[in-house]
Amino acid sequence: MAVPGSHANRIADTFNPVATPAHMEKGIAILTIAICGVIFVIVAGLIVYAFVHYRVKRDEREFEEPPQIYGSNQIELAWTVIPILIVFVLIGVSARVIRAIQAHQPAPHSDPVYATVVGHQWWWEVHYPNLGITTANEIHVPVSHDGRHATFFTLESADVDHSFWVPQLSGKTDVIPNRNNFVWMDPSKAGVYIGQCAEYCGTQHAHMGLRVVAQPLPEFRKWAAAEAKPAVEDPSVAKDKAVFDSLACINCHTVRGTIAQGTFGPDLTHLMSRQTLGAGVLSNTPQHLRDWVNDPQKYKVGCKMPDMHLDDQQLTEVVAYLETLK
Ligand code: CUA
Repeated sequence: MAVPGSHANRIADTFNPVATPAHMEKGIAILTIAICGVIFVIVAGLIVYAFVHYRVKRDEREFEEPPQIYGSNQIELAWTVIPILIVFVLIGVSARVIRAIQAHQPAPHSDPVYATVVGHQWWWEVHYPNLGITTANEIHVPVSHDGRHATFFTLESADVDHSFWVPQLSGKTDVIPNRNNFVWMDPSKAGVYIGQCAEYCGTQHAHMGLRVVAQPLPEFRKWAAAEAKPAVEDPSVAKDKAVFDSLACINCHTVRGTIAQGTFGPDLTHLMSRQTLGAGVLSNTPQHLRDWVNDPQKYKVGCKMPDMHLDDQQLTEVVAYLETLK
């Protein structure tokens, strides 16, 4: 679903890479498509040739049998050896690129960003261990022209297999329980890059979206400083906060600096800094927030957040409080 008001490059285009790993992977994609294209032209060409050349013509009574080549050693060898060679070339090229990407280390004297992304049914938990930040579904990274500010990710899963994929920045990497996988990216251009879980992980797999916001370094630092702070305490919503704190919301969600310390659902400390709700199903507007809290199941059937059956007043209070979590 398109999110109005964002500057998102809404098309997640593998052929328009803006980071080194994605450029390398585009190279393999082009090579594979070129080889497959040549095979397609040869095979389709031979089929068309056979159709045209050996068709029975209108005035022809007798069918002229084409030359029979069954058992020809040359042909048997050719169509065994050539595909094997093609497959080995593709394996070799892919293995080289995978190795080059996996073995990549932060450059000496560079200033990399480290983040841990945890896949959940059906959202992404994001930590920046060195920056004291926990957020969800929206990953901010600095633009890194010369590789000096690349971001290195550790991928973990809280439940089942997922796959982390931001087509313009990096290839798919499996997110597997009890195992750490790694991916990195060095976006060369600021922008919002759409990502998606790319491994079927249950009912709402299709709505396990994420976005990467690549920002110039000073903006990234500003964002990081704001995210690292505990939640804003706005005295004008003290009553609304008390309502939120009295509900089961706090068992699943954290609002840093308050009694809400749940970790089952997304951290809400700076909820209002994010562009979407429910891992991309709704844009983050006051009305949508109200709709979402009122009945998450309506927008994301089967998601782990239940309908809390709040009455109208509770809903107004909870949303009024959440709206202050900038
Ligand atoms: Cu997570 Cu599909």
